[in-house]
This record gives sequence, structure tokens and C-alpha cells, in this order.
Amino acid sequence: MPRTLLIVANRPSPNTAALADAALAACQNYDGGDIETRCLTPFEVTAPNLFKADAVVIGTTENIGYMAGATKDMFDRCYNDWMDRTEAKPVAIYIRAGLDGTATKRALTSICSGLKWRLVAEPLILKGDWDDRFINEVAELSLGMAAGLDIGIF
Ligand SMILES: Cc1cc2nc3c(=O)[nH]c(=O)nc-3n(C[C@H](O)[C@H](O)[C@H](O)COP(=O)(O)O)c2cc1C
Repeated sequence: MPRTLLIVANRPSPNTAALADAALAACQNYDGGDIETRCLTPFEVTAPNLFKADAVVIGTTENIGYMAGATKDMFDRCYNDWMDRTEAKPVAIYIRAGLDGTATKRALTSICSGLKWRLVAEPLILKGDWDDRFINEVAELSLGMAAGLDIGIF
């Protein structure tokens, strides 16, 4: 039975699309085991997508001092359905923030706590001018999630 990984990635720009693609490619290229990875935008996510996933990677931008509206919309629509039905879900987070990112990190950490999800790593903030190394950082985070799922850490 394959383990399933859901990547929810807000991708409003070429850079953020590259991050989402890197996350997906890293998981799909993981050859240690039987991991099925799916990548959706937050607008595409419905509550059952998460019920079916063994773990989730959330990628969002920070806009106007908060997570992207798309990411917020997903939680607005799904939070109540996920409450008490997704406890202990392993989650990793990356935030693309041109300036800061701390408000988005705080908000997402609080939401994860409310849903009793397990943050498997400190949220990754990709801050400042674009740097190609962000792609590797997101790939490593996502690969770590795939490997952790495969070997049963999460
Ligand atoms: C309307 C708008 C508001 C933004 N507000 C913030 C913000 O509050 N904090 C921050 O760190 N970055 C902010 N940014 C920058 C975005 O996070 C950044 O442009 C986005 O992550 C896409 O990254 P990219 O420019 O590398 O494609 C804002 C961008 C826009 C267009």
C-alpha cells in the first residue's frame, strides 16, 4: 500500500511555481519506497484531499503581512472538517516572503496547533530577494518528508 503525500502550493509567480515543482519532483524522484505524491493549489484542495494524505507539505507566499489569500481560503473552507479528523498529521511548511515571513509562520504554526498537526520541521522561510538556493531548500524539505514517511518516522 503506497504512502501518500500531498503538496499544497500557492504558486502565483514563476519563482513560486519553481518551488512547487521542486517539491513535487523531489518526492517523485525519491526511490526509497512506495510514495505517491500529489501537488494541488490551495484553491483546488477540499477537505477529503487531506483525509487521504498521510502527510502534507504546505507552501505559501506571504502577502500583506499574512499567508496568501489562497492558503487562507483553504483553511476557511476546510478547517472545521479537518478538526478532530486529521490529528497528528505530519506537516512541513515553506513560506516565500519577499520581506519578512514571520506573521505567516506564526499564523500557520497556530493553525497546525489548533488542528493538532505535527510540524516535522521548523517552517522554512525563504526571505528576501530571490535566490536559486531556495529551490534546493524546498526540495530537501520535501524529500525529507517523503523519506520520513517511507521509513516510518512520521
Ligand atoms: C501585494 C503584495 C504584498 C506583499 N506583501 C508581503 C509581505 O507582507 N511580507 C513579505 O515578506 N512579502 C510580501 N510580498 C512579497 C511576496 O511574498 C513575494 O513577491 C512572493 O512570495 C513571490 O515571490 P517572488 O517575487 O520571488 O516570485 C508581497 C507581494 C505582493 C505582490
